[in-house]
Amino acid sequence: MEVFQSNPVDLVVTDHLMGRAVGTEMAAALKRLRTHVPIIILSGSSSPPEGTENADAYVCKSEGPDALLNRVSALLASAASRPEETEIHTDQLTALSRERLASILESVMEAVITVDSSQRIVLFNKAAEAIFRCPSEQALGKSLDAFIPERFRAIHREHIQEFGHTGVTRRSISSPGVLVGLRSSGEEFPVEATISQVGGDGEKFFTVVLRDITERRDAEEKQAQLAAIVESSNDAIISKTIDGTVLTWNKAAERMYGYRAEEIVGKPASILLSPERMEEEGRILSQIRRGEAVPLHDSVRVAKDGRVLSVGVTISPIRDAKGTIIGASTIARDLTQVKMAEQALRNAEKLAVAGRMAATVAHEINGPLEAVANIHFLLERAELNHTAREFVHAAQEEVKRIGQITKLTLGFHREGESGTAAEVRASDLIDGILTLYGHRVESLGAAIEKRYDSAGAVTANAGELRQVLSNLIVNASEALAHKGDKLLIHVYDSPDWRNTRRRGVRIVIADNGSGIPREIRHKLFEPFFTTKGEHGTGLGLWVSQSLAEKHGGRLRVRSIPGIGTAFSIFLPSNAANAKVA
Ligand SMILES: Nc1ncnc2c1ncn2[C@@H]1O[C@H](COP(=O)(O)OP(=O)(O)OP(=O)(O)O)[C@@H](O)[C@H]1O
Ligand SMILES: [Mg+2]
Repeated sequence: MEVFQSNPVDLVVTDHLMGRAVGTEMAAALKRLRTHVPIIILSGSSSPPEGTENADAYVCKSEGPDALLNRVSALLASAASRPEETEIHTDQLTALSRERLASILESVMEAVITVDSSQRIVLFNKAAEAIFRCPSEQALGKSLDAFIPERFRAIHREHIQEFGHTGVTRRSISSPGVLVGLRSSGEEFPVEATISQVGGDGEKFFTVVLRDITERRDAEEKQAQLAAIVESSNDAIISKTIDGTVLTWNKAAERMYGYRAEEIVGKPASILLSPERMEEEGRILSQIRRGEAVPLHDSVRVAKDGRVLSVGVTISPIRDAKGTIIGASTIARDLTQVKMAEQALRNAEKLAVAGRMAATVAHEINGPLEAVANIHFLLERAELNHTAREFVHAAQEEVKRIGQITKLTLGFHREGESGTAAEVRASDLIDGILTLYGHRVESLGAAIEKRYDSAGAVTANAGELRQVLSNLIVNASEALAHKGDKLLIHVYDSPDWRNTRRRGVRIVIADNGSGIPREIRHKLFEPFFTTKGEHGTGLGLWVSQSLAEKHGGRLRVRSIPGIGTAFSIFLPSNAANAKVA
């Protein structure tokens, strides 16, 4: 029926029984539309069915194709001999289509405006009335300019004229251009428009079909704002489908996990999980499918380079406009540094407790130690054979060492608490440190060489300077591994290597140990960077550098893998240069 209505048809051949439709009924309906179009009904039965009179002819299929062809040519010939009748029907048809067209124009959502060649409005439909807030009586006959903001009128007029000449427009149906419309109230609004022209050699008419896209633009703007917030967020924001495939991946996710968006979109989000956490993903996704959010919880993710990150994660279902759950959004914050800082604080607290305890123990040992020293003194005066006297002497030396250690331990504690700057000699501090740690180096079979070209007198907080030196000496001793290795400590007066007018002291702590691979050298002074696993906190060099700088000094490193490492500290001798609190 649709084909019949919208196309010129010369003749219809139809089967009688066609599933739901019946040929004779269809013939009656077609005749109501166009009586002059001949209709032939085909059927398998030899006698014509009821209602065959609605058609012009009946052919039984058993009569064969030639019978049908004969009937077709006869009917076409007789139709051709009735020209007047055809004319009348064409007119009726045009009236019918015009009516239909008018009702379509009034019911469409788009504003349809037709202008003549001088851009006067000749058609203004209902949607145009609503969009421009102007009744068609007022619009008809006016220039199209009335609905275009003044600043765009000239360009728009030009555009239509150019279109009239070339028939080419940039605003085609496939890619509608975005323009600005003007309501009768004076309000401007964004429109999307397409233009077409009718009329050949005679007068040309242009029809503009447009829609108000204010709502869509507002929604797009809101969408863009949200996207900008997501992109600029410091938290990794990821969306994934209900079965865990990554859909979107923001900048922070790139920074945190090391994967670029194009590398991971379309892949399973479970790439970020360690094997033992795989089942967590399944559990979370089934929770999301039930519409439940997963509130903030601590978890672990694995970055592209294998780093294990402590993260705080919140996961929520994403729903479409109908409320169906279509995926999940995950917001994750990197807590690795926070967790490490917490651990460092716990360590520092433990160290402080241990320090206080060591000081108490050292203090308590002093009493019995003095008693033992007195006994040795008395023993020395007693009558002893040579061997016994040598043993007493050795015992006295060891007791002296214990005395030194207790004194140093108490000293550490007091200096650590005082925090004031005073004149100190770096060489004295180094001697004290070696009393505690030197033993370890020597037990390896390694040698310690001290070269004091100066005493290394500086104004500094003794406790803090001792901390810097002992961090470096311990690091060097930990790098030594073989018999014949050497730890060299060189103290001498020297200018600042960056500003030669600043005088001061240079302390070099060098070892011929493992050396430091080039690729990790830039990370040495970062907090928590360690290659010693759980035996190191990675705070030694970071603390040492900040303490050296606090004293107006500098710390630098030179290292050749397999040959050795040398750390140098410069400290200004002039107290005025130091930023000591
Ligand atoms: N003399 C050295 N020779 C070789 N590597 C070194 C040397 N000094 C430091 N390093 C490297 O620098 C890293 C960081 O040193 P840092 O003193 O900051 O931490 P750590 O020694 O690992 O731990 P901590 O000092 O807290 O016990 C070490 O793990 C080690 O890899
Ligand atoms: Mg260290």
